[in-house]
Amino acid sequence: MTLVPGDLLAQFGSPLYVYDEAELRHRCRAIRDAVPLSDVDVLYAMKANANPALLQIVREEGLGIDAVSLGEVRRALRCGFSADRISFNGNNVGDSEMSAVRKAGVHVTVDSLSQLARFGRLAPGARVAIRINPDIGDGHHDHVITGGPASKFGIEHRRVGEALDVATRAGLVIDGVQHHIGSGVLDAEVFLKAMDVLLSVAARVPDHRFVDFGGGFGVPYAPGDATLDLMGFGARAAELMIAHREATGRDVGFRFEPGRLVVATCGTLYVTVTAVKRHQQQVWVGTDSGFNHLLRPALYGSYHAIENVTSPDGPLETVNVAGNVCEAGDVFARERSLPRCRDGDVLAIRDTGAYGWSMASTYNLRARPAEVLIGEGGPQLIRPREDEEDL
Ligand SMILES: Cc1ncc(COP(=O)(O)O)c(C=O)c1O
Repeated sequence: MTLVPGDLLAQFGSPLYVYDEAELRHRCRAIRDAVPLSDVDVLYAMKANANPALLQIVREEGLGIDAVSLGEVRRALRCGFSADRISFNGNNVGDSEMSAVRKAGVHVTVDSLSQLARFGRLAPGARVAIRINPDIGDGHHDHVITGGPASKFGIEHRRVGEALDVATRAGLVIDGVQHHIGSGVLDAEVFLKAMDVLLSVAARVPDHRFVDFGGGFGVPYAPGDATLDLMGFGARAAELMIAHREATGRDVGFRFEPGRLVVATCGTLYVTVTAVKRHQQQVWVGTDSGFNHLLRPALYGSYHAIENVTSPDGPLETVNVAGNVCEAGDVFARERSLPRCRDGDVLAIRDTGAYGWSMASTYNLRARPAEVLIGEGGPQLIRPREDEEDL
């Protein structure tokens, strides 16, 4: 079936998030198959995109859920994930959230020694995992580096002994260790180094049943970006896992929590050109969307490929592509070579399935876009556009 973006926008409105089901399923399978061990579990970090239709596909593909809030836990349960397929990894969460998650039957990973002690008061005798900061971090931007000395996350790896003492005093059993070193990591060596640290921490935790290596696998957004060799990484990760099982004599389970790698490439944000200004020094292409719908370029300076799908063969022009939010930083791309744009042209902003809609806001009181899933049966509306009432 040929899908004409202009037709989709005529039917569902502009701007519009569109997801490709085949690509989503392909990514789930590639990640699931990357590590050549049959029992490695993949938990989808639903913060990347929590649309229920996408969660259902992820569930069908056999992935579980990594949730960071009670809201995410509840959404995952409503979407059919059983409590034992959900892992809660909140940061700086309070008692009421923690105890509601536990009441829902979902396993909790705590992020600090004080949270561990509080969890002991809420759930004496319970099993709990600890998030470790392995002193190694990486990511596409400082804001998303979650391991290393400058990060607010986790318990420093050298303090695992204190964690064990706190757990003993609180009558808790530490049954797992977890880390997440950052997001958008394209260098497998960094992952492997951090995994090594986490496994040596795990070796000191006598009752650990699982080791969770977090997410963070990057995707190449810009021409020239490295591509993570997932299969090569998986083979070396498996060696570390097997060695850990042999050294500890324990049947330890292993997990990953990818978000971006699952959903980034299946998504496109279509926007419509609403103004072209040929200023003396720069050409500005204005659109009917903005950082309220796709925050990554403004927040992180992130690159997303942009195509003029209405006039793909026009003469190339160097332009800035901007949104309609009343802020000067509301720019999707600077100095991009695009086929000459006119008012009404549709632009495709690629690889926006992860941290796109999920980070969207109603800033400037503009509604968030609809979301459409393209499957074998054609386009299906999976979230209607917001309206005045929603705002
Ligand atoms: C605890 C945890 N796990 C997994 C992820 C997913 O990261 P990514 O989307 O880079 O795979 C995150 C992202 O922030 C996280 O905080």
